[in-house]
Amino acid sequence: MPGVAEAAAQLRAGGVVAFPTETVYGLGADAFNERAVARVFELKGRPRFDPLIVHVAETADVETVASAFPAEARRLAEAFWPGPLTLVLPKREAVPDLVTAGLGTVGVRRPGHETAQALIAAAQTPIAAPSANRFGRISPTTAQHVRAEFGDAVGVLDGGPCATGVESTVVSLTGEPVVLRLGGVAVEAIEAVLGRAVAVARPKQGGDEAEEGRASPGMLERHYAPGTRLVMVEDAAGLDPAGLGARVGLLALDAEPGGGWAAVEDLGGADDLAGAAARLFAAMRRLDEAGLDAIVAVRVPDRGLGRAINDRLRRASL
Ligand code: TXA
Ligand code: MG
Repeated sequence: MPGVAEAAAQLRAGGVVAFPTETVYGLGADAFNERAVARVFELKGRPRFDPLIVHVAETADVETVASAFPAEARRLAEAFWPGPLTLVLPKREAVPDLVTAGLGTVGVRRPGHETAQALIAAAQTPIAAPSANRFGRISPTTAQHVRAEFGDAVGVLDGGPCATGVESTVVSLTGEPVVLRLGGVAVEAIEAVLGRAVAVARPKQGGDEAEEGRASPGMLERHYAPGTRLVMVEDAAGLDPAGLGARVGLLALDAEPGGGWAAVEDLGGADDLAGAAARLFAAMRRLDEAGLDAIVAVRVPDRGLGRAINDRLRRASL
């Protein structure tokens, strides 16, 4: 397992390294090294129309990758950075098209995890990094999850379990602010800082995923998916697991063992949706590894981080 100095040296030499952030683990490469970034796409099996987020050590470093930093973007950075928020801004030409999938914009984030900050600072370059999972799979929230995805193909900096547990909220600020992906910063918190309502982009229903991806990158409908069939319900009370198979698992707030469930993952209480978000992906992975016929996931309250949880559950159920 590499340390920060060794991982930074690998990044500077054009290598790919997995590292912890407060949201999920990332698969990092020097954002200005096109060959290193190409290796990230290759390792993930990620389609090239889906752009990567560029991670910076300091807010001032935004200017190295973005050609403009509008007032509302600055206000959000001041309020939520370092933290689980990605700002989509007009890009500088120097950023390789591969990073941004040929778009005129770049997603930038200053992560909150100390190890991530130390790594980016030591690498002395912005780090392009998607979540460190194979394309379409559940994002990793521990170093062990990353090893389960990539084995020995990628060195992993171990920073313990991720505190936020869902990916960053992605907000476009090239015009009117629009939330492109729900995540670790609640929409309500963004609205409070901007002092106005902010639209949340809806992924298109149906249709060809590749077409959707090009029209609205990162809004692919099916995503975050376990291998096991996942069924999302409003309420599991009175639901007979046997109707879905011999071995059915339950994923819910205040989930209790028994009731015919073959496996149960309790996400905690409705009063702590941030805690539930932190537990979500690890719980999904455990259920996926439990040899089940199906997983029943119960919708959580649609407020705060609950919106990001419901978004991930819904996409996993498609
Ligand atoms: O929390 C996170 O954001 C994690 C950690 C590692 O930082 N990263 C992450 O990356 O989730 P990834 O690649 O799995 O998801 C990045 C999302 C995608 O939905 C992508 O389409 C969107 O951000 N994105 C990146 N650049 C964009 C851009 N220029 N315009 C629109 N969407 C963009
Ligand atoms: Mg991802």
